[in-house]
Amino acid sequence: MAEQEGGVAGPRSLALFERACSLMPGGVDSPVRAFGGVGGTPWFVSRAEGAYVVDADGRRLLDYVQSWGASILGHAHPALVEAVREAARSGTTFGAPTEGEVELASRVVEAVPGCEMVRFVSSGTEAAMTAIRLARGATGRDRVVKFAGCYHGHADALLAAGGSGVATLGLPGSAGVPEAAVAATLVAPYNVVPELDERVACVIVEPVAANMGLVAPLPGFLEGLRAACDEAGSLLVFDEVITGFRLGRAGASGRWSVRPDLFCFGKVLGGGLPLAAVGGRRELMELLAPTGPVYQAGTLSGNPLATAAGIAALELLTPEVYSAIESRVGELAQGLEDAFARAGVPAQVPVVGTLLGISFSASPVRDFDGARRAAEGGEYARFFSAMARRGVAFAPSPYEVVFTSLAHGEDEVARTVEAARDAARELASAAAR
Ligand SMILES: Cc1ncc(COP(=O)(O)O)c(C=O)c1O
Repeated sequence: MAEQEGGVAGPRSLALFERACSLMPGGVDSPVRAFGGVGGTPWFVSRAEGAYVVDADGRRLLDYVQSWGASILGHAHPALVEAVREAARSGTTFGAPTEGEVELASRVVEAVPGCEMVRFVSSGTEAAMTAIRLARGATGRDRVVKFAGCYHGHADALLAAGGSGVATLGLPGSAGVPEAAVAATLVAPYNVVPELDERVACVIVEPVAANMGLVAPLPGFLEGLRAACDEAGSLLVFDEVITGFRLGRAGASGRWSVRPDLFCFGKVLGGGLPLAAVGGRRELMELLAPTGPVYQAGTLSGNPLATAAGIAALELLTPEVYSAIESRVGELAQGLEDAFARAGVPAQVPVVGTLLGISFSASPVRDFDGARRAAEGGEYARFFSAMARRGVAFAPSPYEVVFTSLAHGEDEVARTVEAARDAARELASAAAR
């Protein structure tokens, strides 16, 4: 039965899902949430606190999804809840500039070298879409180079060979995208510096790929992209929607000391509310309307609740907090590696700062082909299920990563490792059958 495979959806979640499916395509508002990548039926979340979510049946799950990385401080952090409550009392949206936008913008500019101005939007998709339009507007060129397995949201031009949900569903791109919309999108393999020419407006990359499992940039890859862009007069766009404010305050660009021309931020920056941003060098950013000819707008952009949550989140994200999460992630990685090794299950547990990946592959994954091979065997779905039955919720897709928050303490890691030991043994005995 499907629900046994997926794990743990209780009767109330099952009933809700059935109703949802009659009202919403696939019962969800974002495809991966439907659990197609792991089989079974999703649990519906009714509330969450810290490292845990509670589902509609009252089951408490140790959560490593954390809103796909948005909740780095853990769910419903009291300071964020208070900031949102306080902001809501003064009105939820005005469609006019607010002090909160200026405050949050100043914190981003201060934190990220090379990011001299920002424009707030409501989703990572909008941020990437705007970055591309800006790069095309700035260079007068059409072509965009992206990397297979990287995900930059669901804008037409960027869905080709996408990671995340596109990969989970095994799609090459999306129906409904006219050929003309992707004619200027070139897809290159991750971790190989592509050849560029004077037709390329920009190269957009996840500086640490986190939508095909976790794939770190090989030494020289990011530096090579910077040099290739400089030589061809193309712009370099770092999509830091996942890595921004997660790999330290300066994100991946700070960690590798490679400065892109444009940045995309989202997730952590909004403190769990719908907020994202495109940022970059001043002369590029000033090409955006109203100072420049590149149009971009949004009714809810820079929403006061979201900026309040973002400011509160950045306030709390000190170097000590990143170190604490990193050391927790290190312990978790060691425990998982050990669990797989003891059971004789070939697996990789790469770590970059606070990000951790799990891929069932005998050798490290360096690109989308490797990620697909690792996902093909179905071990991830079995592992996901075995963990879910033990009350630990990983992402319902082999192409996502493990998001650990500040609220994941020693006990949570110990519980996860213990569950993983049993789950790995289960995997090994299923493989032997
Ligand atoms: C690297 C990256 N860019 C862009 C996006 C799109 O962001 P959103 O889902 O907020 O539109 C995502 C979403 O997961 C992402 O991981």
